[in-house]
Amino acid sequence: MSETLPIVRTVAELRAQVAAWRRAGLHVGFVPTMGALHEGHLSLVRLAGAKADRVVASIFVNPTQFGPGEDFTTYPRDEPADAAMLARAGCDLLYAPSVAEMYPEGAATTVTVTGVSEPLDGLARPGHFAGVAAVVTKLLNQCAPDLAVFGEKDFQQLQVIRRLVRDLDIPVGIVGGPIVRAGDGLALSSRNAYLSDDERPVAGSLNRVLAESLQRLRARTPVKSVEDWAIEALLSAGFHSVDYVEARTPETLARLGPGPAEGPIRLLAAARLGKTRLIDNMGD
Ligand code: PAF
Repeated sequence: MSETLPIVRTVAELRAQVAAWRRAGLHVGFVPTMGALHEGHLSLVRLAGAKADRVVASIFVNPTQFGPGEDFTTYPRDEPADAAMLARAGCDLLYAPSVAEMYPEGAATTVTVTGVSEPLDGLARPGHFAGVAAVVTKLLNQCAPDLAVFGEKDFQQLQVIRRLVRDLDIPVGIVGGPIVRAGDGLALSSRNAYLSDDERPVAGSLNRVLAESLQRLRARTPVKSVEDWAIEALLSAGFHSVDYVEARTPETLARLGPGPAEGPIRLLAAARLGKTRLIDNMGD
């Protein structure tokens, strides 16, 4: 396997390569990313490689999904390191467009997914999912892969993408890749790089509190009291604030009633530690 990854930067080059693979009867898998890659992303590339003959990854730090005051300008960027990691994970092509290529002058279309994108991060990060929905729609139309892989760490994002692909009849299979965790359970994330040495051990408690909360839910402890307990447990562990800890239905992310949970559960959380906002989730 070569360590030098072919890189294309325009929609035309991307389409030409994918069309050539298609003509040769090859199936194409796609892994959209914002770079700053870690083992979690590489697991998605390997999953795409196990399901398709060729794998395209994209790196594009999408300005429209960052709110004012968020980390768009400081988001870690290291394309050469990312490209080397992608090559080692079996990626065949990197698509790394410029902002001008993605959003040509005059672009005026928005993509809004109602319902599933409204609660949780939809409330905490207004406009975030509209930015994600628009860029993912564009990336899928540009690449036209057979399947696309997204991490379950961004569980709400995954459900927003599943909804938009169904609603807009985009001919692609959406595959969710399992969360990859560090030894203490912290879900791998590009933003973990922001954590200080003092904050890093506290960050690991997010996963432990969610696991304990899920056990309590399965033991039929009322949903509201588990959510309240989890928020207190995160603050006691050293988190500075908690955006949410909520038990919801996995597919539509509808709120569960306050009493004991019935049926499948997905527990989702977002909490802040210094300048880092961490999200995690677990469930059935
Ligand atoms: O999950 C991400 O890295 C981004 O939200 C995505 C899906 C690549 C869209 O910019």
